Amino acid sequence: MKTRQYDIEKQHAKGKLHAIERIELLVDKNSFNEVGSEITHSCTQFGMDKKPAPYDGVITGFGTINGRTVAIYSQDFTIIGGSLGRMHGEKIANIIQSAIEMGCPVIGINDSGGARIQEGVQALAGYGRIFYQNTKASGYVPQISIIAGPCAGGAVYSPGLTDFIFVIDEISNMFVTGPKVVKQALFEDVTAEQLGGAKMHAEKSGVAHYRAESEVDCYHKVRDLLSILPHCAADGPQPVDPHYIRKSQSRIGRILPDKPKAAYDIKSLIEVVVDRGSFTEIMEEYAPNMVTGFAKHSGVLVGIVANQPKVMGGVIDCNASDKTARFVRYCDSFNIPLVTFVDVPGFMPGLEQETKGIIRHGAKILYAYSEATVPKITIITRKAFGGAYIAMCSKHLGADQVFAWPSAQLAVMGAEGAVDVLYGREIRAADNPDAVREEKINEYNQEYLNPHLAAKAGYIDDIINPEDTRQRVFECLRMLSGKRSTEHVVKRHGNIPL
Ligand code: HXC
Repeated sequence: MKTRQYDIEKQHAKGKLHAIERIELLVDKNSFNEVGSEITHSCTQFGMDKKPAPYDGVITGFGTINGRTVAIYSQDFTIIGGSLGRMHGEKIANIIQSAIEMGCPVIGINDSGGARIQEGVQALAGYGRIFYQNTKASGYVPQISIIAGPCAGGAVYSPGLTDFIFVIDEISNMFVTGPKVVKQALFEDVTAEQLGGAKMHAEKSGVAHYRAESEVDCYHKVRDLLSILPHCAADGPQPVDPHYIRKSQSRIGRILPDKPKAAYDIKSLIEVVVDRGSFTEIMEEYAPNMVTGFAKHSGVLVGIVANQPKVMGGVIDCNASDKTARFVRYCDSFNIPLVTFVDVPGFMPGLEQETKGIIRHGAKILYAYSEATVPKITIITRKAFGGAYIAMCSKHLGADQVFAWPSAQLAVMGAEGAVDVLYGREIRAADNPDAVREEKINEYNQEYLNPHLAAKAGYIDDIINPEDTRQRVFECLRMLSGKRSTEHVVKRHGNIPL
């Protein structure tokens, strides 16, 4: 590490750690090697020739996390507000380019006043180069953005192009336009926290994937994530350890409530099926009606997607669709098998969702699952209704193995809705409409809401006992470990509905 004076106190006075301290917390001890440490700007406008900017306000280099190489850039707010001039931008773009060549993840620590005003269009050119390299790196090496201060204007689009954005309580501010401009343009009074604080982005906008309570907590979380992720798509699928790790499954049969409509927590089911303590959720606070995250199964990294019956009955809305599609595509890019748990009543109906574009958003899930060529394993625990059944990695979208619990219900819709459509006239004409309706509902429940019809049609590979889920998922992972995509249709690329 280079020995030089940093203005650490100035940064601490703002309640933040210094760029170099952040790097030290992130990487293995003494592993950081800086690159481009002497680079600075050559701007002379606005008296910039008298404004020194060591390393042009951004520290770039390589370190290791758990012994594996990572590329890092860390903006130094004490130097011209961490603002991005041409050389600052070049340094970041170059480190991403090197990471692509080396096949290692990139971590960006953002703390900046945005485009360096004195450098004008040169600063904008710097951003342009970064966006270009972000896009080149996408799907090849993991890109992680930490928002450790302001991140404003077009500057937000570099993190926006990366895979995982970490925000920190009371430190992160991320918006396209700040409160002053909003007031000017729209006469709205909003605080920076409301416009771009950590909680807002974690809960509402869906921009952030992880929220940390402090900087130190954030760097630990980043290290944890990188310790499980593949570091390059070119590394190919992970080898599967052929040894199944036994784990008590006695609890799993008690998770599903007796009442078919009662809610339960899908996460407690996931925890039983995957390796102990290995499940780590992504976007926990956003669209909690869908759960996405990584876990290990007998040592193999898998991506988990699951409807959450505990929140809005597990219905799929626009936000859940976006969250799912993006996660599925991440897993597919990096050779991570997908395990999907299904208990879904359908896509969310209503004016609000239709006008928001549930058609366009829901289509993203269909597209992402259909496009994914990694091993795809689906477990239907209870409801699998309508289009949502198809969307949740059904056989029809290329699932390799679909299992159903005996409690699974595959149908176009639930009993009440179906009976009203099918027997509406008969019910209205009956002497006792309620009794007839009840009778028809029972009949529908008995005869149609089960997994057997779908199994006979080949849409379910096996009806399994809940206690066997872990073992069967493992057998699939082992069986599918050699799966390779054989589709070579000549086209430039598809057109995912965005
Ligand atoms: C040049 C900048 C700067 C910038 C901050 N500084 N932002 N210098 N260009 N964009 C300098 C300040 O002049 C100051 O210098 C020092 O950094 C610290 O800034 P302060 O304002 O004192 O800090 P603070 O009070 O903490 O406020 C932080 C801030 C504020 C909220 C980020 O600095 C600010 O509003 N900056 C401008 C934000 C902005 O509008 N950026 C452009 C966004 S548009 P001295 O010498 O006094 O210490 C954009 C387009 C990108 O980025 C397009 C990409 C496609």
